[in-house]
Amino acid sequence: VESSYKEQYRPQFHFSPEEKWMNDPNGLVYNDGFYHLFYQYYPDDIVWGPMHWGHAVSTDLVHWEHKPIALYPDQNGLIFSGSAVVDTKNTSGFGENGKIPLVAIFTYHSMDGERAGRKDFQTQGIAYSLDNGDTWTKYADNPVIGNEGIKDFRDPKVFWHEPSKSWILTLVAGDHAKFYTSKNLKDWEHLSDFGRTKGAHGGVWECPDLFPLKIKGSDEEKWVLIISINPGAPNGGSGTQYFVGDFDGKTFSTDQTEPKWLDYGTDNYAGVTYNNVPNGERIFIGWMSNWDYARDTPTKKWRSAMTLPRKLSLYEWDDDYFLANYPIETVDKLSNPPLLEQTEVPSGETFSVETNGLNQSEIWLTTASRKFKLLFKNASNEVLELHMDVENRKFEVDRTLSGKIDFQEDFGARKHIAPLIGAQKKAHELRIFMDWSSMELFIDQGLVSMTEQVFPTSPYDTLIIVNEDDEAPILISTVSPMKSV
Ligand code: FRU
Repeated sequence: VESSYKEQYRPQFHFSPEEKWMNDPNGLVYNDGFYHLFYQYYPDDIVWGPMHWGHAVSTDLVHWEHKPIALYPDQNGLIFSGSAVVDTKNTSGFGENGKIPLVAIFTYHSMDGERAGRKDFQTQGIAYSLDNGDTWTKYADNPVIGNEGIKDFRDPKVFWHEPSKSWILTLVAGDHAKFYTSKNLKDWEHLSDFGRTKGAHGGVWECPDLFPLKIKGSDEEKWVLIISINPGAPNGGSGTQYFVGDFDGKTFSTDQTEPKWLDYGTDNYAGVTYNNVPNGERIFIGWMSNWDYARDTPTKKWRSAMTLPRKLSLYEWDDDYFLANYPIETVDKLSNPPLLEQTEVPSGETFSVETNGLNQSEIWLTTASRKFKLLFKNASNEVLELHMDVENRKFEVDRTLSGKIDFQEDFGARKHIAPLIGAQKKAHELRIFMDWSSMELFIDQGLVSMTEQVFPTSPYDTLIIVNEDDEAPILISTVSPMKSV
């Protein structure tokens, strides 16, 4: 780790740009030994501006190497969000001398079109790389999908659909998703639409992702459609909803009408999954911020970070489906030997541990206690509070007094609430990752997750656990410092 990575609030085990503004993860794809992470990037300021695709690579999804900017704006517009595929069969014809092309599919946002008051200023373009993402060539006949007058028309996610031997592209058009098909990544045919009357519609739909997933403990496969929405998330601002249904190569269908949320914290947005992962896992990365206050957070050199890489799994019970997201196993290797282990907090008791390792730590609890609080505190009495309330089937995160909150009015305005999803249980497992400016909570292997930014003015150094249950204990399995990557 470079010494420059010790600035206040600099994430120590999450990806952040070396400097300047970042938003959505883009072009998540594995190719020839490397996981690529492209991202919405503005190289000239720490607020949003004309978008480029920044780039980083990793062999394990936790240690990242920064790369030069991959895609720059051109005469068609800025480079908004999108995806990338490995064109193994060279369907695009971009391959040369046996080199397999990596193809990026992204949205062009024409500033001129927007300024002129037109509605058709977002179109879809492609670019390819023959050196595993180091250098890119834009396709000469861009855009490949034009716009017939839809104001918000963006964020193409493409995958290879083996049954129909074709590429399937999902994009969003304001209040719904559109599906397209192609044999060569250049000529696209519209297949169908989904969603005008399903799910949440408090804001515009963004960053779709469609993929199959096996139901845990069964061989049955369902299709999951992830849709980010801004605003309209359950705890305010930006959030990510999902639908579980079927996809027949042409149409996505589902009985689900109510929204389901992938994360109940306010800082997991525009997340999508990797194409081409060698072991077939479905791995998700989200942008750890919220459009409500993304431009205002108190960092100076760079702005924002990505979530930990998370594996998605699908659970079924009561004739319903639930998507869990939980850090990939590689994250386990980032914890150092525990500072504390196997410690019981009996019913009615309070336990506290003081350690300056707390602001970069992992906390693992198993608890039959139905009511308890976890407090992360610092010397200035700033406190991040977590409340478990099994009786009312909810979990709360209260960052209203967690540190700096006044940079924007919504940031610390209220508590964030998650429902306890899943069958009623005697015991719950909680895993918490605290980094220098974020907290990620996973209950029951990610059936409930809450991702939250926090900006304590000095690091939290005291963990207090208040067991308010009359009977049941809490077991602190481990409190471990996390490595800096
Ligand atoms: C989501 C989003 C996308 C868009 C990009 C622009 O955060 O609004 O819909 O492509 O950011 O940076």
